[in-house]
Amino acid sequence: MEHLVNTSHLVQDKAFKKLIKKLKGENIKKMIDAGSGKNSASILLKYFPTAELDAIIYPGDNRKKNPLSSTIGSDRIDVIELDLCASCIRKKYDLCAAMLTLGEAQNFGYHFQLLFQRIMDIRAKYFVLIDILEDPTINYKYMDAYFKEKGFKVLAKKKCKNPYPEHYPKVKFDKYKLEFDSKHYVAYLIKNLNMFNV
Ligand SMILES: C[S@@+](CC[C@H](N)C(=O)[O-])C[C@H]1O[C@@H](n2cnc3c(N)ncnc32)[C@H](O)[C@@H]1O
Repeated sequence: MEHLVNTSHLVQDKAFKKLIKKLKGENIKKMIDAGSGKNSASILLKYFPTAELDAIIYPGDNRKKNPLSSTIGSDRIDVIELDLCASCIRKKYDLCAAMLTLGEAQNFGYHFQLLFQRIMDIRAKYFVLIDILEDPTINYKYMDAYFKEKGFKVLAKKKCKNPYPEHYPKVKFDKYKLEFDSKHYVAYLIKNLNMFNV
């Protein structure tokens, strides 16, 4: 029995809903949540009710593992503990999502750029990336340039206001103390042209 979390009030859910309208007609059957949690997993399973989901979490990240395994309890979800920065995923997917994942790169000792590149290496036809605009560890200009250079087409990019900003004490990054408020989210829908030319 599947118990999805009610995510309707979340900015990520609203942004996701707007973006995936553009995927109408696409046969989304295999999904990967690169940096999973019960919110993003519930959103993906809700909007694609016949698709299966590989939910990736950092090894030993029990903050995410327990809620994913016990709360959702769906036979469409496979919770996989894997370090995205140290692994090569060979499986092909129709959709890869990374919601609020990039901002956590440093929590596990990696730079944002490496985690971003590893996520974009996943062989998925489409990507949905959602993260916090104000997060100083995320370089959106770098991402935009990367998409252009590496064969990714931005089908939609939306900036959404967060009605309930949170204060993030990112205590230490490259020796600097960084704090920010999550006032806006940035959401991308990306088409991976490399997966259509083969
Ligand atoms: C803030 S949580 C996002 C949760 C989820 N996307 C949601 O919206 O409910 C960040 C997630 O990214 C994962 N993560 C961060 N760095 C990772 C890495 N190098 N390899 C695998 N997972 C990673 C964490 O384990 C966690 O599941």
